[in-house]
Amino acid sequence: MIAPSCYVILTYFRICKFETVISQHSIQQILSRIDIVEIVGSFVKLKKRGANYLGLCPFHNEKSPSFTVSPSKEIYKCFGCGASGNTINFIMEHEKYSYVEALRWLAQRYQIELEETEVSAEQKQQQLLADSLYIINNYAREYFTDTLFNSEEGQNVGLSYFEERGFTEETIKKFQLGYCLNTFNSFAQSALAKGYNLEYLQKTGLVTIRNEQPADNYRGRVIFPIHNQSGKILGFGARILGKHDRAPKYINSPENDIYVKSRVLYGTYFARHSIDKLNECLLVEGYTDVISLHQAGVENVVASSGTSLTQDQLRLIKKYTNNLTILYDGDSAGVKAALRGLDMAVEEGLNVKLVLLPDKEDPDSYVQKIGAQAFREFIEENKKDFVLFKLQLSMQEAGSDSAKKSQLVNEIAETISKIDKAEDFTKQQDYIRQCSQLLNIDEQGLIQLVNKFIRDRLVKRENAALKNQGGDALSEEAIAAMEAAETGISVDSLISGHERQERELVKILLRFGDKPFSEEDNTTVADYIFRLPYDFEALAESELVKRILREYKQRYDSGELLDRKWFLYHEDQQLSKEIAQILEDKEADLSMNWKERFEIDTVYGDNAYLKDTISTTNYLILRKIKKLIYENQEEAKKTSDINQLMTCLEMQKHLNALERELTNGMGTVIFK
Ligand code: CTP
Ligand code: MN
Repeated sequence: MIAPSCYVILTYFRICKFETVISQHSIQQILSRIDIVEIVGSFVKLKKRGANYLGLCPFHNEKSPSFTVSPSKEIYKCFGCGASGNTINFIMEHEKYSYVEALRWLAQRYQIELEETEVSAEQKQQQLLADSLYIINNYAREYFTDTLFNSEEGQNVGLSYFEERGFTEETIKKFQLGYCLNTFNSFAQSALAKGYNLEYLQKTGLVTIRNEQPADNYRGRVIFPIHNQSGKILGFGARILGKHDRAPKYINSPENDIYVKSRVLYGTYFARHSIDKLNECLLVEGYTDVISLHQAGVENVVASSGTSLTQDQLRLIKKYTNNLTILYDGDSAGVKAALRGLDMAVEEGLNVKLVLLPDKEDPDSYVQKIGAQAFREFIEENKKDFVLFKLQLSMQEAGSDSAKKSQLVNEIAETISKIDKAEDFTKQQDYIRQCSQLLNIDEQGLIQLVNKFIRDRLVKRENAALKNQGGDALSEEAIAAMEAAETGISVDSLISGHERQERELVKILLRFGDKPFSEEDNTTVADYIFRLPYDFEALAESELVKRILREYKQRYDSGELLDRKWFLYHEDQQLSKEIAQILEDKEADLSMNWKERFEIDTVYGDNAYLKDTISTTNYLILRKIKKLIYENQEEAKKTSDINQLMTCLEMQKHLNALERELTNGMGTVIFK
């Protein structure tokens, strides 16, 4: 639940991001007009049930209705999938609109004129230009469809081509396919006669200047309009008929104010609801693949239009689902090109699967050959996990070449290291296990390698952040973000129990050193640790821990501020790197966050760090004592001098008492 004040701030940011500010007055106007039943009802069939309305949830697949709308509360809620929100949330979720886009949609519906303030003249100009391009594209789409169905050439050439390819009339109409006459400038003339601006016509790529005359650019080609997510036409792909050696197979719209290739996936408009419902997006290469699959009833499919995926395209997919399944032609050039872009998809947190089609088939030809049912089964049976697939492919390639094999281990570790989101932790572990088995290498070794990549990235990020801030200490948020960054496998698992405790002590000092330890005598955690009759610096085995403790103690003794940022951004890069790592070690956080995590009170209430302080120092002291006991026993065994033996026995008694005191004396202390 977002607090109201946060909501205002969020709203503010959303609006600002769009660089147009819709006035509060307009927003109020829209809000006062909203009728949730009417708006939701225009997308979902609703039936009245008591005070509420009931329907089939548009956000997941269901046969019996569990989607309710409450007019009095002005919210919707699905008891099946948990989707819920207000009217604006509904529009945003259903249409995948931003907040501002949802407001615009509602404004248009209620015919409210939006007051948009603080829009610069330049921005207005841009908006106008974009609107003009959309209008021209829409006109062209109508013109080409009309040509396809109603002109002789359109029917004989265009329509018969589509029919030959097995597209039904329904499909052709759904995708608004068209045909451009093989004349010099029929379209251009018609558009100019309608009053469309020549400059804009050129910007859309529909018209070019040839011999100083406006000429049609897509002469004699069939036309595939490219829609944005809400169905507006961004541009066109125009395919040549038959085979041609000299002319390109497709001419696509040039990039302009509305068509930015890297942000577009062909078919999103037709696929979005199906992707949402099936929670999976199929990705193919071409226009015709999307269309044929739709015709066969496979509707959760979009095309990358023959290029490798961009970050923006991946984000577009992520709006709808986390599951991306890529269908590729069997030829290996295509596969390799595809694999290159996919690390990025893993990084974005997508679950990537691959399906290789049989040789010489693409999704279009294959679905037409074997039919929808068999096609779907084929996909299910041949889905391969991307990471494992990549590994198998590279293993085949590497063969017995050991240099290649070690390069491959590095590559796979890097790929796995990119799965670094908290919720993907088990996925990462699974991959490590499976890959180490496949590669026949030590699992621990692979874990270390993966950690190395995580670490390197973290350090890079850290340094970049430092640079950004002109070398000054980072904000609290930046550090928090950084600490959260590596939540995958903790370096902990690589470190022995002893060293873990030593690092734990450093972590406690860095995080809680200046926190109160005892209210009574007004001491801090650092006071407690440094006043114990043990020299932890001397006790520590790790050189790193020794060094940090030394530096920390120096600052403590001189009364300087014990600021962990100072350590985190220590001038010694090596040290700061290690400190960053220690601060990220997961282990300690478990008990420190007990209260939030398990909603239980610890004996120390909010001050769980006290418990960690005591248990960690006790562990280290106990370890020292155990070591002394051992050394003492060894000495007793060796000596023949009765006096020395007596001393040893005295010592033994003393040490045993200390040990008991430490282990029994504090029932609340858990030794890890
Ligand atoms: N493409 C392109 N320009 C080309 C060739 C291909 O833009 N000269 C893009 C198109 O978006 C095309 C996709 O790459 O849809 C895949 O290419 P291809 O498989 O050759 O085209 P299909 O659409 O499958 O066409 P067809 O089935 O008619 O061969
Ligand atoms: Mn094809």
